[in-house]
Amino acid sequence: MSKITRESVLNSLRKVNDPDLHRDLVTLNMVKNVSVEGNSIAVEVELTTPACPLKDKIKSDCYNSIKADHPEADAIAVSMTARVLGSAGSKVEDILPGVKNTIAVASGKGGVGKSTVAVNLAVALAKQGAKVGLIDADIYGPSIPLMLGTNEQPKMVETPTGPKMIPVENFGIKLMSIGFLVEDNAPIIWRGPMASGAVKQFMSEVLWDELDYLVFDMPPGTGDIQLTLCQTIPLTGAIIVTTPQEVSLIDARKALKMFNRVNVPVIGVVENMSYFIAPDTGNKYDIFGNGGGEKLALENDTRFLGGLPIDPRIRIGGDNGVPMVYDMPDSDHAKCILEIAQNMAAQVSINNINAALQPKLDIILGDED
Ligand SMILES: Nc1ncnc2c1ncn2[C@@H]1O[C@H](COP(=O)(O)OP(=O)(O)O)[C@@H](O)[C@H]1O
Ligand SMILES: [Mg+2]
Repeated sequence: MSKITRESVLNSLRKVNDPDLHRDLVTLNMVKNVSVEGNSIAVEVELTTPACPLKDKIKSDCYNSIKADHPEADAIAVSMTARVLGSAGSKVEDILPGVKNTIAVASGKGGVGKSTVAVNLAVALAKQGAKVGLIDADIYGPSIPLMLGTNEQPKMVETPTGPKMIPVENFGIKLMSIGFLVEDNAPIIWRGPMASGAVKQFMSEVLWDELDYLVFDMPPGTGDIQLTLCQTIPLTGAIIVTTPQEVSLIDARKALKMFNRVNVPVIGVVENMSYFIAPDTGNKYDIFGNGGGEKLALENDTRFLGGLPIDPRIRIGGDNGVPMVYDMPDSDHAKCILEIAQNMAAQVSINNINAALQPKLDIILGDED
């Protein structure tokens, strides 16, 4: 009988592909540890995000491949860890050292649920084990303080590069909002440069430390201010939130075009208020029509990340400052957000790994000429 070796186990793992990244785990450098003691095998696989939707599948594929090649093994342990990839070659490092990915949550229209999605997405990513921050870049209508139930003023600390703010923390995420810095209901009249200046300060004068994902809740619309913000924030990518009806889609298309114009990749589209399930009958109603978000994603060659139903409990969560993914993790609507968060994290990993591999591929392809 052949002996089990580290190399024979690695060969089994070479047969396991990451279904999203279309390459095997060894080539992707995701196998971090292989130990063989007699007939027991232990391997550690490092995913590109803790919110990987394919975690269980990859784990069982590893187990099955090792088992098939080593029938004599009497113990096979596959442990899954994660280290989020940063966006290769991006300018994030300059202004936000330690932050791996910056994601804008945007929409063409106000009131479509951008803040609701941003807040719940951030909390869902944190619940999966990621380090997450959230910046309220909607300085005209900051809703993060209300939606995350805090009005705490950020503390200041002295640093070698001047005084800095420590972000407020709630529900496992770090937060910054203009709402923390102004008096209740004080009218805020911002002009464009002031708006982008404030968001710039939220990046450079706040101690964010290490983050896997920093989410920006953007102001609605596609005017000068939004365009300036997209150019001010070094963005890994953007998510477009829309409701299914045409009036919302028209504006969502404009938002997509705006990101294309400034070369920010659109990670995908989220459809909010997709449908309503009547609590008494269980019947499903497509209040604003059906399939608009999916159509938008398809038209623009981007991913449909998922839909979220209309549910009064989502609104109540927002008004009461307790995000529904936190409060009702087992509800159907929380599962929808979790799926959206996982799809987003997976797509960010795909984009990052492709960007990191692209120069190498160019060299390989260039050699063939
Ligand atoms: N899926 C939903 N079901 C029920 N209420 C929702 C849903 N999404 C958003 N809302 C509510 O709609 C209002 C507007 O949402 P908000 O997230 O503030 O939109 P935006 O940030 O795009 O202006 C809020 O009161 C919010 O609680
Ligand atoms: Mg909002």
